[in-house]
Amino acid sequence: MSSQKVSIPDLQQKKKKKHPITMLTAYDYPSATLVDEAGVDIILVGDSVAMTVLGYPDTVSITVDEMLHHCKAVARGAKRAFLIGDMPFLSYQIDAKEAIRNAGRFIKEARMEAVKLEGGREVIESVRAIIDAGIPVMGHLGLTPQTATKLGGYKVQGKTEKSAKRMLEDAVALQQAGCFALVLEAVPSKLAESITAELNIPTIGIGAGPACDGQVLVFHDILGLFDQFTPTFVKQYANLREPILKAIRTYRQEVESGVFPADSHSF
Ligand code: KIV
Repeated sequence: MSSQKVSIPDLQQKKKKKHPITMLTAYDYPSATLVDEAGVDIILVGDSVAMTVLGYPDTVSITVDEMLHHCKAVARGAKRAFLIGDMPFLSYQIDAKEAIRNAGRFIKEARMEAVKLEGGREVIESVRAIIDAGIPVMGHLGLTPQTATKLGGYKVQGKTEKSAKRMLEDAVALQQAGCFALVLEAVPSKLAESITAELNIPTIGIGAGPACDGQVLVFHDILGLFDQFTPTFVKQYANLREPILKAIRTYRQEVESGVFPADSHSF
């Protein structure tokens, strides 16, 4: 693994050479240093922070200011990974000018290198405007959590011939608008494979099977730190909630029983 900063051309090269792209979320300084040191290509400061860190019931309520607070901390912690900030609900849909202004804040104030936003043809004007302003955009199709109510809940998308065709058309439209990559969330593997084969830009899957050019998961999900629910597509690589709980309980007991602080912790 090279210690050089990951760039958009590096990601495109990976697609060309069929080297899988790795992407993981991070939301603060310590998680960013860990993900970066582990050599993950892309850090996404996802609006999933609303649920995993801030305790909201979904991603709808989080604001641009809240997102920027997390993005700034991640930018201070990551040296190598390519950094993407997730634009929250209604920060890019109202009009192209507002979309550029909000996207610009992720770059200028929070030191992100690109933004991600959800949707296909319905957001294409904003996508084009942000890219024309000089800001790289990652698209996001399939299950788009910000508009999950409209989709009838957190369900697999593109299961019918009609919806699969629409998703493929949206993917092509996002590529034509200038997106440098595309997240495919909760999409049948075969459809993700067709979209990946059709596009020149990399696809990054989450619940979209192995044929995507890369994979993304949520930091708290792979480490067992989010206890509300675990989507089927998540693989948990550790269950850190248990050892953390045990350590905190031991600290409490040691303070209560006078074991801590010992002489070695005192002056
Ligand atoms: O917010 C997020 O973490 C995301 C990823 C799951 C793709 O959008």
